Amino acid sequence: MTKITRRGALFTGISLVGAAACSRESVDFPVYFNHGVASGDPGANRIVIWTRISAEILDAFSGVIPVDWEMATDESFRKNRRKGKTTADAGRDFTVKVDATGLKAGQRYFYRFRVGKNVSPVGRTKTLPAGAVEAARFAVVSCSHFGFGYFNVYDEIAKHDHFDAVLHLGDYYYEYGHDSYGGKTGEKLGRLVEPAHEIVSLADYRTRHAQYKGDSSSQAVHAAHPFICIWDDHETANDSWKTGAENHNVEDGDWDARRAAAMQAYYEWMPVRDPEPGRAKEALFRSYEFGNLLTLCAVETRLTARTRPLDYAQHVADLQTREGIGNFVQNVLGDPSRELLGAAQSAYVGKALKNSKEANQPWRLIANQVLMARLASPDLTSYKEADFIKDIEKVFPQIHEYIVLSPLGLPLNLDAWDGYPAARERFYTTVQEQGVTDLLVLTGDTHECWANKLETASGKSMGVELGTTSVTSPGTGAYFGEAAADFSAKLNAKNGDVIYHNMSHHGYIDLSLNQESGQANFVSIDTIYKKDYKAFTSKSFMIKKSNGSLVLEDK
Ligand SMILES: [Fe+2]
Repeated sequence: MTKITRRGALFTGISLVGAAACSRESVDFPVYFNHGVASGDPGANRIVIWTRISAEILDAFSGVIPVDWEMATDESFRKNRRKGKTTADAGRDFTVKVDATGLKAGQRYFYRFRVGKNVSPVGRTKTLPAGAVEAARFAVVSCSHFGFGYFNVYDEIAKHDHFDAVLHLGDYYYEYGHDSYGGKTGEKLGRLVEPAHEIVSLADYRTRHAQYKGDSSSQAVHAAHPFICIWDDHETANDSWKTGAENHNVEDGDWDARRAAAMQAYYEWMPVRDPEPGRAKEALFRSYEFGNLLTLCAVETRLTARTRPLDYAQHVADLQTREGIGNFVQNVLGDPSRELLGAAQSAYVGKALKNSKEANQPWRLIANQVLMARLASPDLTSYKEADFIKDIEKVFPQIHEYIVLSPLGLPLNLDAWDGYPAARERFYTTVQEQGVTDLLVLTGDTHECWANKLETASGKSMGVELGTTSVTSPGTGAYFGEAAADFSAKLNAKNGDVIYHNMSHHGYIDLSLNQESGQANFVSIDTIYKKDYKAFTSKSFMIKKSNGSLVLEDK
């Protein structure tokens, strides 16, 4: 692992500020590319390429660093060469982002950056294909917490050259400090997060990004593939919504300032296209067309429109009678004003799906943060006295209220689409209005593997959902110990929409789609606690068309 110290240079006096200089062509101080290179947001003729400039003097440097970039279809940078100039400065934390245009569709490119004589590592990327496209293949990941383990999942994905893109479904990093989620494991592994405290300010978010981009496996996967990223809650703070977050308190200051800081650092440090002028930063929803094969819509369900998630702990008294439960389900949970996507985003997704349908593409994918399928809690009362509940209580103090309410069969997770049933029905209606009932929804967040049926409240099939487990963050299996298998069996028995559930593995989904059918391999790794690991396929499904929708068949 490359150890990065962003703020590590110490100076005595101010002479370096005056001494350090750069001309149009070069700088007179050593420059490094300590955070690797990355690419993302591919189009048929454009792609974002990224790096970050490091130098001992940067903390005191207020100038502009000239940066050259180049791309080519061969590693010696001779064929189909594109090149240009850009700059890096403190205003963007010396990150460099180029939206390279004029590229060929469906083409592998190599790219690198140069400052004077200093050359970055070479990255490999790929533009979207156009026209007749036989197949596409994705690595689908989410939930990469630095402290919980090594990013072996990234390392494994980096070894393969058969992916068109890596889809990162959010929780790319976590906001917590040493004293919180992942801190103990991080201490054992020598992977304590930087800064040590929970990140709140712009400097904090930048430092956390820098640490993640300093990880060797993270650098390897970014250098190997373009990323299509959506953020979930932890890119700002836990369980965030439009105007707040569960993990944002009065002492953290103003939410809008924190949210703005998080988004600024995200756009600086991630290989995603900056918002068009005039468009809100939080509106990170985009679509990607793979010729005549598929459209992928990447949605934003946190900061654009989301209403505050409900919390059962505040409704225990309401849920003591049959009438109270009915009222909660109908009028509180089911309140139609509760929103996830918002009108502008819904219209955008609807249009993309309509275009896909009209172009006769066989596949319509949604890259999404939180579980869309219905998932009711099984009866957990038999676990009431179990030792593992005490451990869960430390990270989830409301567990006792959950246990008491669990026989009611209410949604397991109110932060998922289940907490916004009216918004989910509206989304399904928008989708159906485009003549679409065959969504392939890709989901992160849970740290567990899922294959689910998607249905409207009235039982109309809308497609299937594949949930990817985490890169490192613990699934419920890590907390339930010996009861994990029993809990999973109870959950499956309670929920007819769940086809497959694995709560104990870390890994990714290897998703291949061709004109006729698809295949989803749940790839797991055997450890995140040492760098020597083995990867294996824990489950495979064929994805087939059936009656205007999709079905999953065991493979
Ligand atoms: Fe997560």
